[in-house]
Amino acid sequence: MKFTTASLAGAMLAGGALAAPRPGLAERLEQRGVFQRQSQPPSKIDNSGEENGVLLKEGSGDSNVQYSNNWAGIVRDKPPASATYSAVSATFTVPNPTATDNSGDMQAASAWVGIDGDTYTKAILQTGIDSYIQNGETSFDAWYEWYPSSAENFDLDLSAGDVIVAMVKSTSPSEGIAIIENKSSGKSVTTTLSAPSSDATLGGQNAEWIVEDFNTGSSQVPLANFGMVTFSGAQAKTDDGDYGVNNAQILDIQQNGKVLADVIVESDTEFSVIYQ
Ligand SMILES: *[C@@H]1O[C@H](CO)[C@@H](O)[C@H](O)[C@H]1NC(C)=O
Repeated sequence: MKFTTASLAGAMLAGGALAAPRPGLAERLEQRGVFQRQSQPPSKIDNSGEENGVLLKEGSGDSNVQYSNNWAGIVRDKPPASATYSAVSATFTVPNPTATDNSGDMQAASAWVGIDGDTYTKAILQTGIDSYIQNGETSFDAWYEWYPSSAENFDLDLSAGDVIVAMVKSTSPSEGIAIIENKSSGKSVTTTLSAPSSDATLGGQNAEWIVEDFNTGSSQVPLANFGMVTFSGAQAKTDDGDYGVNNAQILDIQQNGKVLADVIVESDTEFSVIYQ
């Protein structure tokens, strides 16, 4: 995929032309100061007796799967020799969340692309979307984050079913760009980010495409039923060529002994994360 100068310029113009959207649920909570959306590195689960948490995934030959409390998707854990990951992108559809119980409590799920954060734990440069449901009401946010800072929202009036292209790009270990493009309209929003501290620079060691059960403050939001998120056109760029998801690490979300999000790989550039 290409982000042309014309489409970026169009996006900047479009930013000003958009009618002010009704603030999403998370945004309203944020305005009240009770909400700070934040991704976390994956919290891996050691399924004891099961080869240190690395299981052979049923029916998928020799690809191994790791389980984590919060990330499902695919991580490239190592760049090619003497190169680093400098950009990660994919296309996906904003999922329509449904509640998994009758509590009326807020539930959510997030889909994003990022650089670092798995084996390289100091930083994550990432951008993506959140889908929320509370008391039957859904809302959606597009955001960017340089972990360990919290996420900031893009000014974008998202709906379920919107097809977006998400991309992060590092221009140096301490500078990056996040872009969310509306695939239907070709319009995009973009921002530049800086490492929040000199301890949180990028290593370009991991590239990932993730559905996350993220945090607000120190607690994890209960995971909504997000149905299925299909990442297509998955691409990780290095100076030494572009890579897809083949031969990369698969992660499923497991909570309380139950797999809640499972990954099915369709090709080198496409896979789905399915709520169970
Ligand atoms: C994306 O573009 C489509 C078609 O123009 C529009 O209906 C939709 O509202 C747009 N979504 C966002 C988030 O801009």
